[in-house]
Amino acid sequence: GRKGDLAGRRVIVTAGGTQEPIDPVRYIGNRSSGKMGYNLAIEARDRGAHVILISGPVALPAPYGVELHQVETALQMRDIVYALITDADALIMSAAVADFRPAQAATQKIKKTDNKVAGQHEKGELSIHLVPNPDILAELAGLLADGGHAGAQHDGISSPQLKRRLIRVGFAAETEHLIEHGRAKLQKKQLDMLVANDVSRSDSGFGTDTNKVLIFHANGDMEDLPVMPKTGVAAAIWDRVVPLLG
Ligand code: PMT
Repeated sequence: GRKGDLAGRRVIVTAGGTQEPIDPVRYIGNRSSGKMGYNLAIEARDRGAHVILISGPVALPAPYGVELHQVETALQMRDIVYALITDADALIMSAAVADFRPAQAATQKIKKTDNKVAGQHEKGELSIHLVPNPDILAELAGLLADGGHAGAQHDGISSPQLKRRLIRVGFAAETEHLIEHGRAKLQKKQLDMLVANDVSRSDSGFGTDTNKVLIFHANGDMEDLPVMPKTGVAAAIWDRVVPLLG
């Protein structure tokens, strides 16, 4: 049975979307509800794991028996992921991390007549300058590839010294070309598994209670799973991670 098959394991799940501040009252974000990630955390807890859930702002209750770390931004999520992976067995990134953030958040609320703070107003327009966020999974893949070299650094971050092999699972939110994009992300981020959901379907992706996913494996295999409740998708993912754990 599955009960207990994660006993003694430390697993990290990221969930929800990051929020990138524009000013004290506004942010750039996305539609992630956190449901997929919270179900992954709850399923791992029920199988006996010590679960660390790193969550963006969501409307879901904190799951009982899970170590919850709340963050807002991609940079905060990256810091806490790096701080906690050193003794983890698995990292599943179901969070929808914002790819860009405002170059600087205004310290005061931007007013309609304000033309100095966050861009120029011409005819009442406002522009916000965005800079790329680090891609947490891609950067981690680079650092682990350099891992043997002491002091290897990317963007001021040094290679994490992992105590054991870390199984890394990513998600991909796609609206088209699921197979090509899924394979490409698995490869680029050097993942053990990638779960691609079709976010253009009404029964799948952001906010829904169900999900329709393709699972890509490092050996090139692909599985096409039926639409299932996110609880079932979470169980299917852990079923496939367990055999990969050393
Ligand atoms: O929360 P729900 O409402 O239940 O919705 C679930 C979901 C649709 C958000 C989830 O199933 C999902 O697909 N999550 C990943 C969404 C996403 O951001 O995909 P991506 O293709 O942009 O990123 C690919 C992978 O890289 C993801 O594992 C992501 O966490 C990671 N990433 C992305 C950007 C970034 N800067 N750093 C990252 O590590």
